Amino acid sequence: MNNNPIGIFDSGIGGLTVVKEIRRILPNENIVYLGDTARLPYGTKSVDAIIQFSLENAEFLISRGAKLIVIACYSSTSVALEIVQKNLAVPVIGVIQPGVEKAVELTKNRKIGVIGTSLTIYSGAYEKAFRKIGERCEVLGKACPLFVSLVEEGWLDHPATERIAQTYLGPFKEDNIDTILLGCTHFPLLMQVFQKIMGKINYVDAAREVGTMVAEELRKLDLERGEQGGDLAIYLTDLSMNFKEIGERFLGEPMRNFSRITLKGK
Ligand code: DGL
Repeated sequence: MNNNPIGIFDSGIGGLTVVKEIRRILPNENIVYLGDTARLPYGTKSVDAIIQFSLENAEFLISRGAKLIVIACYSSTSVALEIVQKNLAVPVIGVIQPGVEKAVELTKNRKIGVIGTSLTIYSGAYEKAFRKIGERCEVLGKACPLFVSLVEEGWLDHPATERIAQTYLGPFKEDNIDTILLGCTHFPLLMQVFQKIMGKINYVDAAREVGTMVAEELRKLDLERGEQGGDLAIYLTDLSMNFKEIGERFLGEPMRNFSRITLKGK
């Protein structure tokens, strides 16, 4: 089992930011990544659809021998984490709880902003995660769906991106938040724009915390891989336009081993 891969899935290739962190923290682990590019975006779809897609994605990773699964997609984690956990015999880690714990550690005034897709924000998953760890914080959510397309377009420092960010984030300044949770795979790439608008507050990108959590879980279960040099296999449900260029932006290294697969629907 120790040589089996860690399975990671996302709605697309944004979750490669989480892969990047896991590869940095656990360079000897084999990783199988599934990006459901054919059914992207998840952030604007219904709860039922995302639960179904998430279960199918997890099933695919299990068929590849995954010893642990990471849901790198915030929209999926928001609505499907518990159901996927109940359906699988291996540990399943989402991206919301680790970020919430980090935000609680960083905030001084306990006023926290959360940005994400519409599904993530309206699901109330972040509020639930704060309650779960018994922390009383004022949580202010803002759905920022346009950021996803702007990042996919590569408009990381485009004036249009700045204007849209100003519209979305401007009101947070009056709320006096001191910490903001980046609740979407794509948002860490817009960090510079956020900093320009929000200034010196705490920005939480959960990818690092997720990596640490995966490492702890593998240690606890004695499932670490001892051998040198882990492989990364990337499966996508569609090889969409510019996927390689955009994917490498998220992954921070060349995408070498990738292929298209068709998922078995129910
Ligand atoms: N991966 C999604 C998330 O983190 C963003 C893209 C989408 O809407 O599918 O919420």
